[in-house]
Amino acid sequence: MILYFSATGNCKYVTERIATATNDKAVSIETNPTVSLSADEPLGIVTPTYYWTLPINVMEFLAALPCPTSSYLYYVGTFGTSTGGASAVANSIMKKKGHPFDALFDIRMPDTWTPKFDLSDPAKVEETNRRADQEIDELIEQIKQRVRGIHMDFHLPKIAGLIGGRSYEKKRRTKYLTVSEACIGCGLCAKKCPTQAIEMKQQKPVWAKEKCLMCLRCLHHCPKFAIQYGKNTAKHGQYRNPHVTV
Ligand SMILES: Cc1cc2nc3c(=O)[nH]c(=O)nc-3n(C[C@H](O)[C@H](O)[C@H](O)COP(=O)(O)O)c2cc1C
Ligand code: SF4
Ligand code: SF4
Repeated sequence: MILYFSATGNCKYVTERIATATNDKAVSIETNPTVSLSADEPLGIVTPTYYWTLPINVMEFLAALPCPTSSYLYYVGTFGTSTGGASAVANSIMKKKGHPFDALFDIRMPDTWTPKFDLSDPAKVEETNRRADQEIDELIEQIKQRVRGIHMDFHLPKIAGLIGGRSYEKKRRTKYLTVSEACIGCGLCAKKCPTQAIEMKQQKPVWAKEKCLMCLRCLHHCPKFAIQYGKNTAKHGQYRNPHVTV
């Protein structure tokens, strides 16, 4: 079983590629899955990196997960610039249960944090995804061979994740999300939000919760690009992984 969270498709794509190549099953944590493994079945966790740590829903999911029986437990963190302490945070959660990860991997992909990073050039995005595909090919071979240990480009200790987590807490306030006149009231943002943070009122999205995952799924999926976070996202473009739909 491979469990994943994916706001904009990168992790779903990585998971599906691994699942196809290893004859395994890709399961989104948004479906509240029950994890039951057959003897010797591997268990993979594939997650984006948020603020050098884990998305809050992934953190909560791992914390609530019963200690897995798997003899091969692996972590794949997708990221844009640096995974920081995300893998160490994940590992510490699993260690407390008595089953640290057997292997830690990462895959660099387009960075969906567009308040800062620019994804408006299709050629650059395509090139990043082309390189990611090569990395995924290698990852699959490593998983097939049940390689153990840390196989990450760059990672930091847990303290970096704890520091990043403080910034994440501040930045995931829905007051930073705005909607423009371009909105056509289609309701897609509300339908796709993984935390039901959006309500449609008079055919416009309203953020009904003080905090959300800040996954930016709403911003990147809006057919009119009417949702923004701060002043930079409008010029940095929208992104959805080209191979999958979330
Ligand atoms: C709120 C937020 C914070 C992020 N923080 C980081 C980060 O600290 N380091 C990094 O390399 N990428 C960061 N990213 C980029 C994502 O981890 C990366 O694009 C990931 O592949 C997205 O996966 P998905 O398409 O499956 O949602 C962030 C993205 C978001 C939305
Ligand atoms: S997805 Fe975009 S156009 Fe549709 S309701 Fe939401 S903001 Fe408006
Ligand atoms: S409101 Fe937007 S950014 Fe927040 S959790 Fe929902 S889809 Fe993600």
